This record gives sequence, structure tokens and C-alpha cells, in this order.
Amino acid sequence: MTDAIVVKELVKRYGSLSAVDHISFDVASGECFGSLGPNGAGKTTLIRVLTGLIRKTEGEAFVSGYDVTKQADHVRRAIGVVSQAMTTDLDLSGWENLDIYARYYEVPLKARKARIALLLDLIGLASRAGDLVATYSGGMRRRLEIARGLIHRPKILFLDEPTIGLDPQSRRVVWELLQQFRREEQLTIFLTTHYMDEADLLCDRIAIIDNGKIIALDTPENHKKEIPGSDIVDVTLERDDTNEGIETIIAEMETLPFVHQVIRHSGGQESGPDVLNIYSDNGAQAIPVLMERLQARGMKILAMGLKQQTLEDVFIHYTGRSIRSEGGKKVSYLIGAGLPRRWGN
Ligand SMILES: Nc1ncnc2c1ncn2[C@@H]1O[C@H](COP(=O)(O)OP(=O)(O)OP(=O)(O)O)[C@@H](O)[C@H]1O
Ligand SMILES: [Mg+2]
Repeated sequence: MTDAIVVKELVKRYGSLSAVDHISFDVASGECFGSLGPNGAGKTTLIRVLTGLIRKTEGEAFVSGYDVTKQADHVRRAIGVVSQAMTTDLDLSGWENLDIYARYYEVPLKARKARIALLLDLIGLASRAGDLVATYSGGMRRRLEIARGLIHRPKILFLDEPTIGLDPQSRRVVWELLQQFRREEQLTIFLTTHYMDEADLLCDRIAIIDNGKIIALDTPENHKKEIPGSDIVDVTLERDDTNEGIETIIAEMETLPFVHQVIRHSGGQESGPDVLNIYSDNGAQAIPVLMERLQARGMKILAMGLKQQTLEDVFIHYTGRSIRSEGGKKVSYLIGAGLPRRWGN
């Protein structure tokens, strides 16, 4: 079976900035492949090149066997796209939004009606099909956009941040929908996200992207195995201004057989408590021993917690910072997924 997506040394530059910087990967037919990264990592740019919206600068990319630059029309017919910004027409009903797309893709009348009815049913919007999209919730609108992306029975569905801005319940509904479509329509899915839980749940493999580069590519399970220690004990300590005490205790902890590594943070502040992340195979066993050692050294424990490792920790492991560290609003979500082609190139 041929690969659904083949990308070789792909580059997209804006002036001196390489938004996509020598990226290579393959996506197998039927696979759900995720590109996970923080704001500005290059996720939308990558998806825009792969879906033929903007032109690559260098390298090669094939989607459904077609060259994304030379055979862009073939690519467009083989794929469905759900962009980062919501683009369904608010002034039309759900049904009309789907019908316009079906006509655009020249789906014959009879098939069109059946397909729209089936999709509306699957996304749970059959009873609201005649209402204006302006009256839909964000989650309903997102579901409609996924149905719209599938109107012409594409083999590959591209989704840019499918659940951004949705409440937890709507996010779960979208996840279930994607899993269902994947099963029932034998879809290949390529999605971008900055949500770890989303990537972990939906994707067979995840490319972690930062500054336009893939820094790690593997299954969620293997990504997590990359970091020794399945548990992380977080300890918050009263700040040690002498620095020596805390350095000694870290060195001592790292000699304990069940401790793999200790990472010290100061919460990004000049003053304030010290936070230690202690990576261990068995956090519950480690906690009493760690407490005893810390207290014996005269350290004041302000808080202690235990959590299982997540992809967030994997991201920190590779980049030294949190995927959420940028914080704030995602501007690209608010203004749409980039500029129209005539300005965006
Ligand atoms: N049309 C453009 N002109 C110039 N620079 C651009 C353009 N589009 C994107 N960029 C830059 O390319 C980089 C990657 O942007 P991109 O939108 O692909 O990131 P992203 O991973 O999708 O981020 P987000 O999570 O915020 O959606 C950013 O530094 C961005 O400012
Ligand atoms: Mg984006």
C-alpha cells in the first residue's frame, strides 16, 4: 500500500524565517498522524503547504501520490481540510453550508442529498440542519466543518487544531467523531494540535515540532518511554538562597536507585520557591524517602504532588520549556489560519 503522505526535506521560508525547516516524514494509509507543537512552531504553515494553499520553498511533498506543487488540483480532490479558524458561513443553514461544498466538488444531486443527510446524522445535527449556523455553538459549528471536509469522500482529512477554543465536553465529542469517521470511512488523518491529551488519544504517531523542525517522531507510548521514570514527584521547597543546600540534595537524590533524574525550576522568578521534578519509576514508594531526606537536610517542603508522565513532559524533555509557556491568546486562531494566498506567499 502506498503512503498517503510523503514529505522530504520540506522547507517554507518567509523572508529569512524558516517556518517549515527541512521536515521529512511519511504517513501510512489509514494512519492518524499528529503534528504537535507550541504557537508559531510551523504547524499551520506545514498543513497549508500540504493542502496546496501556499507553495513550498524547497523539498518535496506528495499527498495521495500527487505532487502538492505540480498536481495541486488532484491533491485538492483527494483531501478534505478543516482549517484552524472556523470558516462555515454564518448566514447559511448547516444544510446549505454542506450543499455548497458538495456542489463545488461536483457531487451528483442524488449522492449529494444522501451524503449530506448521512453526515448531518453522524454529527448529530440532523434536527438543526435548517437553522442558520449563526445560531450554532462552537462545538456544533466545528462538527459541521468536519462533515463539510468529508462531503466528497476524501481519502485523507487534514485538520488544523480541530478542538481549539472548544469546551471540554465539545472536545470529547469531536474526538469521538474523528475516531468514528476514521473507522467507517477508512480515513487517513493528519492533524495539528498543541493539546497533549488530543495527540495522545487520537494519534498513532506524533511529530513534535518546534521552530519549524521535527524534534522527535514516534508513537505516544514510545515518546513517553524516551524519558526514564514513569512518575514525576513535584516538590515545592522554600527558596534556598545559599544554593548549596539544594544542589547537595539534588545530587544526593540522584544517587537513589529509584530516582532517574531531578530537574530544578525556580518558577521563572528571581525570588519565590524552588520546584523540583523528580523522575521515578515508582512515585508512591519514592515520596516518603524523599520527604525524609529533605527534612533531614532542613529543607522546608511547601507542597508535594505525584503525577504520571505526559507528552507535556516529553516536550519539556526535548526543548527545555513547556508547550504552554507562551500563554495568552492564540492570535492566529483569532485572525484565521494565515493570510489569503495572494498576500500569504
Ligand atoms: N504569511 C506569513 N508571513 C510571514 N510569516 C508567517 C506567515 N505565516 C506564518 N508566519 C510565521 O511562521 C511561523 C510559523 O507560523 P504557523 O502559523 O505555521 O505556526 P503554528 O504552529 O500554526 O502556530 P499556532 O499554534 O499559533 O497556530 C511563525 O513565526 C509565523 O509568524
Ligand atoms: Mg496554527
